[in-house]
Formats: sequence, C-alpha cells, structure tokens
Amino acid sequence: MEVRIAGKAGFCFGVNRAIEMARATVFERAGPVYSLGPLIHNPQVQARLAEMGIKEISDPVEADTGTLIIRSHGVEPAVLQTARARGLNIVDATCPFVHRAHVLARDLTAKGYQVVVVGDKNHPEVRGIIGWTGEQGLVIENADESSLLSLTGKIGIIAQTTQSLDNFKSTVEAISKTAAEIKVFNTICSATAERQQAALELARQVDVMVVAGGINSANTRKLVDICRKSGKTTYHVETAADLKQSWFRGAKVAGLTAGASTPDWIIEEVKRRMSDNEEMVSAEEGMKDAVEV
Ligand code: F3S
Repeated sequence: MEVRIAGKAGFCFGVNRAIEMARATVFERAGPVYSLGPLIHNPQVQARLAEMGIKEISDPVEADTGTLIIRSHGVEPAVLQTARARGLNIVDATCPFVHRAHVLARDLTAKGYQVVVVGDKNHPEVRGIIGWTGEQGLVIENADESSLLSLTGKIGIIAQTTQSLDNFKSTVEAISKTAAEIKVFNTICSATAERQQAALELARQVDVMVVAGGINSANTRKLVDICRKSGKTTYHVETAADLKQSWFRGAKVAGLTAGASTPDWIIEEVKRRMSDNEEMVSAEEGMKDAVEV
C-alpha cells in the first residue's frame, strides 16, 4: 500500500520554536525549569519534556527559583510581572505571530480604540491578548453575538491566530454596521489553514485517511473532522501503536496528516508502520494471543 503525507503536516513554526527553546533551556540554564501550562498538546512530547526535567506549573507562584518558559500561546503582562517579581528567569517562547497581536492590542488600547478579539473566550491565547489591553478588550466568537450591538465607538479588531477567515470576515462585517470607526488587523496565522487545506486535498486523492496527533489536540481533531466531511473514512491515532491493519484492507493508497502539535518522529513512525502491513498484522496477532491467554 502506498502512503502519502499531506504537503503541510505536523509542527507549525511557533510550536517548533517553543520546543527548541525549551530543549536549549534545559541544557543552558542551571536550576529548575518550569513551563507555564503544557508547552504542547501532545502526550508523547510532554512525556519527553518531563523526562528532560521540565516541570509543568499553572501559575508562576508555584515556582520559587529557576527558569519559567512561556509557551507559544503567550500570556498576559501580569503573569510576566509576577514571574519577574519572584526572581524567576523568563524564557519567552511566545510565537512571534501571537506577539504581534499583543502589540496591536496594547497600542490600539493606548490610542483609545475598544479592542475586540474574534476568537474563543476560554482559549489561553485569547486571554493573553486581552491582558495586553489592560483587561479592557472584548472577545466576540462570531457575528451572532448580541454584545455586538454595543460596539458603537472606535473599534480595533484582532483575530485569534487560529480563527477561520470566514468567521473573522463575517464578524468584522457585523461590527462595521454599528461602529463609528473600525481598524481591522487580520492576525490569523496561515499554518492552520494550510494544514487544513492540505489534509482536504490529500483526503480527496486516497482510499483512507489517518490523522496523527494528541486526542485532546483541538487542531488535530479539526483535521479529522475535515477529512471525514470530505466523505473519506478517517482514523485518529496518537501513535503508530494505535493503527489497525483491518483499516487498510483493500486500500491501495492511504493518506497521512498530523496536527500542529505532532512531532516528526511520530509522523515517521506512523508512516513506516502503515507502509509495513506485515508488522501491523503480527502486532494485532500478538494482541489477540494475549487476550486469548
Ligand atoms: Fe504560531 Fe501559527 Fe503556530 S501563530 S504557534 S505558527 S499556529
């Protein structure tokens, strides 16, 4: 069976950069190393980072000394102030694209604009951006929200980096109906859309699709959704061990893609195991034997 990998799959620039910065920190800095929240939504990579000695905490007050790594989603300035006040060294791995949204949020607020972030209210990236408005910014998820009606003055609009362009455009359009003046900054990162487009193109060419990535990774689950909506049978695996040979019976070509938090070594392992049906058969037989015993 031939296995094709999507043109864009796996780690995005910002996640890759954050992981590399975390690795370098462990080797270069003395003392304990902490990450504020999980650096990545992939259990296998999280396990490796933990083995390297990176401890995950949810608040800087949990650390008394050492280095704190800020993940690619970024944080609100108050978190950085708390970490500095505690004497922690900060390694800021905020993705430069998210950092741009922080700067815009801060500057628009300073110029008297009501900042609106189009995005998910509970996402840490959005909470971080709102922090840069001095907690004055509003989050709007889509054009149907009733709070849109109150937006009548000078409005500065920013997007969560993973927003869909369609949702951003329709929300901007709705705000423009009531606002006196709007400034719009499309801060959507192309990595998400590129992965989704590549997954869809590949799903159309193959007999069956596999998506590799953390079960809790939102962007991986979105890729699964897109492939399934294209009508192609699609399986979500975290690692090569989850693959089943029966999925590929009768398939001549299988497609493989992966979420933005899936490392290359997992993609390679999954590809190798998919290409090597025999290995999957023996693994499944081994499991059957184990059950029968
Ligand atoms: Fe950055 Fe885009 Fe990834 S904003 S973290 S490169 S999805």
